[in-house]
Amino acid sequence: MEHIIEIKNLKKYFGEVKAVDDISFSVNEGELFAFLGLNGAGKSTTINILVGVLTKDSGECYINGLSIDNIEKILPTIGIVFQSSVLDKKLSVYDNLKYRAMLYNITKNEFEDNLKFFTERLELNNILKKPLEKLSGGQKRKVDIVRALIHKPKILILDEPTTGLDPRTRKLVWNFISELIKNENLTVLLTTHYMEEATIADNVVIIDSGKIVAEGSPNVLKNRYASDYLRAYKYDKEILNILSDLKLPYKKSKNCLEIIFKNTESAKDFLVKNNKYFNDLEIVKGSMDDVFLAVTGKELKENI
Ligand SMILES: Nc1ncnc2c1ncn2[C@@H]1O[C@H](COP(=O)(O)OP(=O)(O)O)[C@@H](O)[C@H]1O
Ligand SMILES: [Mg+2]
Repeated sequence: MEHIIEIKNLKKYFGEVKAVDDISFSVNEGELFAFLGLNGAGKSTTINILVGVLTKDSGECYINGLSIDNIEKILPTIGIVFQSSVLDKKLSVYDNLKYRAMLYNITKNEFEDNLKFFTERLELNNILKKPLEKLSGGQKRKVDIVRALIHKPKILILDEPTTGLDPRTRKLVWNFISELIKNENLTVLLTTHYMEEATIADNVVIIDSGKIVAEGSPNVLKNRYASDYLRAYKYDKEILNILSDLKLPYKKSKNCLEIIFKNTESAKDFLVKNNKYFNDLEIVKGSMDDVFLAVTGKELKENI
């Protein structure tokens, strides 16, 4: 099956608020898929509908070819990390995970094997006996992730999983998840407002006020919505006259001349014609920040 998650014309309103307003997208098996948007864009609402926590107003959602109207059949194949932790603060890490595993049809041995594998990799094996309330924020988040994976689901759904994590823990979590995608063909649906996470995704959907405003691979999105920059560090000043004649936008600082192009093709054409004026240069693609600003008119940074 190609699309492991399929969402068609999904709608959810809260009174006047159109939290999710007729969105459709699909996720391929074994990919990292990022659902990107500012606070209040509709990300959690979509995720919560997918996992049966909220009911939809209309539309259709399929996971593994099954409608979410049969949510009990779907739940064993998915693992979810909610935006706010659902762990029991008074219980130990071990008991939290054991009670979770008891909801699934896995043997004690399977549980112990999975627990060992996940807790070792996420550096949690020394704190299994500690109650949740004694853990740091990063440790709790990692336990949330083990909780979601303890039954080895095919699909992992993560709602802003790394918000508030220190850089080292974020890296550890990302390396581990990337490895599961590669080695176990895990599918990951992630909501985020972090650009780095959207940049490493195979596919991205950008949502704004309940509507999808752009979708595609990061490369396709950058080519479509962001400019390319030619940065020259050593150049003949004559090029400034040529830029004026061609009416090409540019910025000049002490060390660098930055010329802005609609796309890589036009940057390449320009360079082929004017190569002799440049000695040291690079062509850089616009970033996902540029894409986000172009499609929503909003800076993602405001949100953090
Ligand atoms: N239970 C609720 N009742 C009323 N409004 C809600 C509820 N949940 C979410 N909303 C509203 O729906 C919109 C989308 O919220 P949400 O899906 O949580 O966004 P995101 O996860 O992208 O930050 C927001 O305007 C939010 O205030
Ligand atoms: Mg949210």
